[in-house]
Amino acid sequence: METDATEAAAELPEPERAAERPWWRDAVVYQVYIRSFADANGDGTGDLAGVRAHLPYLAALGVDALWFNPWYPSPLADAGYDIVDYRSIEPAFGTLSEAEQLIAEARALGLRTIVDIVPNHVSSQHPWFTEALVAPAGSAARRRFWFRPGKGAEGELPPNEWQSIFGGPAWTRVADGEWYLHLFAPEQPDLNWERLEVWEEHEDILRFWFDRGVAGVRIDSAALLVKDPELPEELPDAAPGEHPFTDRDSLHDVYRRWRAVADSYVEPRVLVGEVWLPDAERLARYLRPDELHTAFNFDFLACPWEPGPMRTSIESALASHAPVDAPATWVLSNHDVTRSVTRYGRADTGFAFETKREGTPTDLLRGKRRARAAALLAMALPGSMYIYQGEELGLPEVENIPPEKRQDPMWLRSGGVDPGRDGCRVALPWSGTKPPYGFSPSHNVRLWLDHQPDDWAPLSVEAQTADPGSMLSLYRAGLRIRHLAPWGVGSQLSWLDYGDDVIAFERGEGFLCIVNFGSQPLELPEGVDVLMGSAELVGDKLSQDTTVWLIQTTDRAAFDPEQTRTQHSS
Ligand code: GLC
Repeated sequence: METDATEAAAELPEPERAAERPWWRDAVVYQVYIRSFADANGDGTGDLAGVRAHLPYLAALGVDALWFNPWYPSPLADAGYDIVDYRSIEPAFGTLSEAEQLIAEARALGLRTIVDIVPNHVSSQHPWFTEALVAPAGSAARRRFWFRPGKGAEGELPPNEWQSIFGGPAWTRVADGEWYLHLFAPEQPDLNWERLEVWEEHEDILRFWFDRGVAGVRIDSAALLVKDPELPEELPDAAPGEHPFTDRDSLHDVYRRWRAVADSYVEPRVLVGEVWLPDAERLARYLRPDELHTAFNFDFLACPWEPGPMRTSIESALASHAPVDAPATWVLSNHDVTRSVTRYGRADTGFAFETKREGTPTDLLRGKRRARAAALLAMALPGSMYIYQGEELGLPEVENIPPEKRQDPMWLRSGGVDPGRDGCRVALPWSGTKPPYGFSPSHNVRLWLDHQPDDWAPLSVEAQTADPGSMLSLYRAGLRIRHLAPWGVGSQLSWLDYGDDVIAFERGEGFLCIVNFGSQPLELPEGVDVLMGSAELVGDKLSQDTTVWLIQTTDRAAFDPEQTRTQHSS
């Protein structure tokens, strides 16, 4: 029943020996959205002290690294993606010396730190921009940004038709009549990467954090930095590399310079790109050996829960990454998208910003069952994996946040048409039976996003720790086996054919992963032991929306993950 291995993957050189393998190639990275992780000082906003207090939780979960969303001083027009000072810590979160302690304490527990770098834009309160605002048109201070005269008789129209990703024109007019470009909110003016000092500033920022022990950076909006200086209109049929502000070829020179900085450290630092590109080949160009190390796999994140598209997405990721010898990444959610438990319970299980609407009916039980199956699928695939905080608790999207409490510019700037991203950014439930569920030591505090559902008690870390059948227990057990498992360190896998409703593959020393999407229960192959499953087997069969990990009995001597295995006789 074995079919051809993914062709390109099969041509890879022999996998490196595990001992020499760079950590990031198969790391599990946990995304910490600090504001909503844990609040230690009782002001309703998560902070670094809250993270430090919960480092043992993260170590016990079994992850290898922590990626922190921006932790810099910010007016929070876009939740910290509007940065005033790239070399300091937002006072509501703590201090620089606390960040240094956090980096060191995490490392002592085996957890590396990745910080978020935002090179496309700064806050409108950043000193460069406030200087530009009072500087004359055409000045060096203004040339760090994209200032232009407007069109129309009085310059009253924006310089071009570009639209902000958050809605509305991508231009805002200043007092002297010029306009400046912002691909996101007006509080996020875009930097001009034609200027050498913009390059030098960012390389210096990288060194600042690398010198403090940070293991890598996540690069925000990584495909948008470079603009066509002529600022032409967007053409719907632009050839790859020809779009005026997305994926321009000269962007690669920026990342080659960054890679040289990262490689200059004894333990080379790691560059992770947020590259939203539909074209897998174009994405892989960012992962050439002298550029970024990895990039988020948004195709997999957005993929509907259907066997055909899922398998195609996996094959395409593996095939496009193989020629550049970069590991694929497996991502199910993040701070920008609908939580997977909610999404997988809907009729349309894919994700797209354009169609994101609230009030779409969802079956949370079904969504949770699928999210469990998806988690074990992602953990079994070759490459690294990302877990967004709360994913390990199976938190649903919070869809009923009252309008006056919402904070996200996506919601505000769309006039409420786009529900925005607040629903996946609600404070984590740690313990107890009612809000704030141990998130804050103060019971009566107003949280920064003042809305935690009153039915989250069963989802708290405390409640789930005690329950072997919980999502948290699934993640803990799955990550533990993933670390021990004999499924090889390379990107090879062999697809197995169990019909159209099933995704199945074999890796390493007799390890099998099988996902049944169909309503027909699936008979397990003979001669295997069950390592674990996302749901109970029903009479030795794999029911719908279930993933199971198996090991061939002949290979049992090679692997004994203690008590996690149950004998399967067929
Ligand atoms: C990225 C971030 C998102 C932010 C945007 C602008 O997509 O993930 O949260 O709003 O960039 O910085």
